[in-house]
Amino acid sequence: MADGNIVHVVGTGTIGEPLIGLLCDAKDDLGIDEVTFYKHSPKLEDRPKVRGLINRGANLAVKPDRTGEFKDLGLDVVYGAEEAIKRASVVIDCTPKNTGLMNKEKYYNKYKNKVKGFMAQGSEFGFGKMYAVGINDETISPKDQFIHIVSCNTHNIAVLINTIGIKNKKNHLKEGRFLCIRRANDISQVKGFVPSPEVGSHKDEKMGTHHAVDVYHLYKTLGIELKVFSSALKLNTQYMHCIWYDLKLDYKTDKEEVIQKFIDNPRVAVTQKKAANMVFSFGREHGHYGRILNQTVAVLPTVHVVNENEVIGFCFTPQDGNSILSSITAAVRFLYPEGYEEKLRCLGAFLLQEV
Ligand SMILES: NC(=O)c1ccc[n+]([C@@H]2O[C@H](COP(=O)([O-])OP(=O)(O)OC[C@H]3O[C@@H](n4cnc5c(N)ncnc54)[C@H](OP(=O)(O)O)[C@@H]3O)[C@@H](O)[C@H]2O)c1
Repeated sequence: MADGNIVHVVGTGTIGEPLIGLLCDAKDDLGIDEVTFYKHSPKLEDRPKVRGLINRGANLAVKPDRTGEFKDLGLDVVYGAEEAIKRASVVIDCTPKNTGLMNKEKYYNKYKNKVKGFMAQGSEFGFGKMYAVGINDETISPKDQFIHIVSCNTHNIAVLINTIGIKNKKNHLKEGRFLCIRRANDISQVKGFVPSPEVGSHKDEKMGTHHAVDVYHLYKTLGIELKVFSSALKLNTQYMHCIWYDLKLDYKTDKEEVIQKFIDNPRVAVTQKKAANMVFSFGREHGHYGRILNQTVAVLPTVHVVNENEVIGFCFTPQDGNSILSSITAAVRFLYPEGYEEKLRCLGAFLLQEV
C-alpha cells in the first residue's frame, strides 16, 4: 500500500462511473488522498467518459498489455491494473456478474495483507459480509475485510422492512411479499432491452427470486430470520425499478402512522409522483450525477392499510444511488473506523427528503 488513503474503483459502468465521480468530488471532505480507477476495454467511444473522470482528479489504471491502446486514444495511464490494487487502501469492485468473485480469487486475496478492505456489488453473492448502510452497520467489524454491497432492489426491500417492520431492533414483520417490477436495461446500456413485459421464474423454492433471498441473508447478519418472498418481472422501459410490497405486521397501525414513519426515515425519500419518469427526472435535476442516494422513494398516495396490520403500497428504487452510498460509507469506514460518520456528513445533501 502506498502512502495516503487511496480508493480504487474497478469498473466504469452504470455504477462505477458515478461512484468514481462522487469520490473525486467529495474527496477532501471524505478524507481521501487519491482516487484511482481501472478501465477494462480501450474503446474510442468511452474516451470522453474516461477523460471526464481524469479531469475530476482520478488516476487511470489499465492492464499493462493494453497500455499502448489506451495511450493511442490519448489517455494518460498512471498505473497497471494489479499495481493499482496493490497500492490501494480500499478497492471497490463494480464489474458484471461473477467478475468480482473471479477478481477476488485472482487478485484481491493476494493483496489482503496490504489492502484494508474490498467491496463488490449486488450480483456477487458470497463475496463477503452483506451490507446496506443504515440496515446492518452494527454487524460490520474490522475483521470483515470483504463486503458485499447488496443490490439496489435489496436495499429498497431492506429499508421498507426497517421502516415498517422493525421497532427497537426487534422484528415485527410476520410476512413480507414483494414484486420487483424492473426496468429492462439502464439508460447507459445498449444490451438487454426487452420488447415487452417479461416475467421471471422463482428459482428459490422458499423465497422466490434472489431479492428476498438476499434480504433474508442481510437481516440474518442481525440475527433476524425474515419470512419473505419476492417475484420479479422486467418492463420494456429504461426508467427506474418499482416495487410493490405487502407487509403483514404483528402490531396495529394505520395509514397516517405508516406515512409518518416513511417521512421520519432519512434514508427514505417520499413522493406524491406516481410516474417513474417524473421521479427519474427529478433525480437528474437534483441528484449527484443524476442519482438519488436514498434507498427508496416511497409513493405516499399508494400507502394502504388492510385489517389494521397489513401495509401495501408501491415505491421506486433509486437503482444505483443506494448502492453507491453504501459503497462510499463502507470505504470511508475502512479508512476511518472511528470517525467515519463525521466524514460522511458531506453526502447528506444528496439524501433527498421529498421527490
Ligand atoms: N446497474 C445498476 O443499476 C446496479 C445497481 C446496483 C448494483 N449493481 C451491481 O453493480 C455491478 C456492476 O453493474 P453495472 O450495471 O455497473 O455493470 P456495467 O454497466 O455493465 O459495467 C461493468 C463494468 O465492468 C467492466 N468490466 C467488464 N469486464 C471486466 C473484467 N473482466 N475485469 C474488470 N472490469 C470489467 C466494464 O468495463 P469496459 O466497459 O471497459 O469493458 C464496465 O466498466 C453488478 O454487480 C451489479 O449487480 C448495478
